[in-house]
Amino acid sequence: MNIPNPNEVFPNEYKTSCFIKNVVTAPNISVGDYTYYDDAVDPTGFERNNVLFNYQEFGDHLVIGKFCQIASGTKFIMSPANHRISSATTYPFNVFGGAWTENTPPHMVQLPRKGDTIIGSDVWIGRESIIMPGVKIGDGAIIAAYSVVVKDVPAYTVYGWNPARFIKERFDAELKDLLLRYQWWNLEPEKLVEILPLLCDPDLEKLRHFLREQYRLTKRRTADRPPSISLRLPRPEHLNFRFARVLVNAFRLHSELLTPVKRKRPLIFLVDTQRQARFARLRIL
Ligand SMILES: CC(C)(COP(=O)(O)OP(=O)(O)OC[C@H]1O[C@@H](n2cnc3c(N)ncnc32)[C@H](O)[C@@H]1OP(=O)(O)O)[C@@H](O)C(=O)NCCC(=O)NCCS
Repeated sequence: MNIPNPNEVFPNEYKTSCFIKNVVTAPNISVGDYTYYDDAVDPTGFERNNVLFNYQEFGDHLVIGKFCQIASGTKFIMSPANHRISSATTYPFNVFGGAWTENTPPHMVQLPRKGDTIIGSDVWIGRESIIMPGVKIGDGAIIAAYSVVVKDVPAYTVYGWNPARFIKERFDAELKDLLLRYQWWNLEPEKLVEILPLLCDPDLEKLRHFLREQYRLTKRRTADRPPSISLRLPRPEHLNFRFARVLVNAFRLHSELLTPVKRKRPLIFLVDTQRQARFARLRIL
């Protein structure tokens, strides 16, 4: 089967849409398969032109899921873009040297911390939008063109304007819930091809019917299984606490079914891995 290859920089001959996971190099930016940035001038320059103030020593992350569509001119502003705002002056004396540096605390230490920016899967960001530091955008959300997103955007909603505000729900609660459980973006590529006609059909009732059926099958299959399995993540040295937090935030956004079952270390979370049609116990050591 001839399926577009997520590891290619340009999926088609126009060379304006770039699968950006293949050009991003910063270790604090992660991008899922098939997420593209569209730009007629410099599509492969996403990291350089569109992720601003990304000073890795500050320690925040940009996590973007799969199948996102990022329109031309979208900018992700990272936390170090801010100045210290808790004191009388916002002027960054410390970065200019000499007696100014000697008499002021290190610049980065005093900047406000907004946390990681996390974008779910199948998110469409309209052109020239600005995503401010620490914002979380849920799966299937749409950001209207020329918006400034300053607060979290729930899954399958449309947000727009400056500051971006709720415009509308995309689907009713049941369909939204079924889609979030199904997470089509995690399907094997061949299976995805099979259901593409449904995913692209404006007759949502066909999709609802299909997803209800999948949900019934899943429930039937899980009934005979133990309620959880253990999924041990990479060795502890690969998984520091910061990364664990990114992972947990990503799961929370993607499935909204993450349940902490134990708060002290080791952290244990229940993660609904719909794809495997069972609950997985995720142990973060
Ligand atoms: C968000 C969007 C998808 C909405 O499309 P739609 O469902 O047809 O919605 P409508 O045009 O009916 O507008 C719905 C409401 O959103 C508002 N709205 C639409 N676009 C907006 C924008 N860019 N900023 C702020 N509000 C916007 C409308 O004013 C309307 O508000 P109202 O309900 O108070 O009257 C579309 O307007 C948009 O911004 N598309 C992005 C296009 C783009 O950037 N493409 C890049 C190449 S991929």
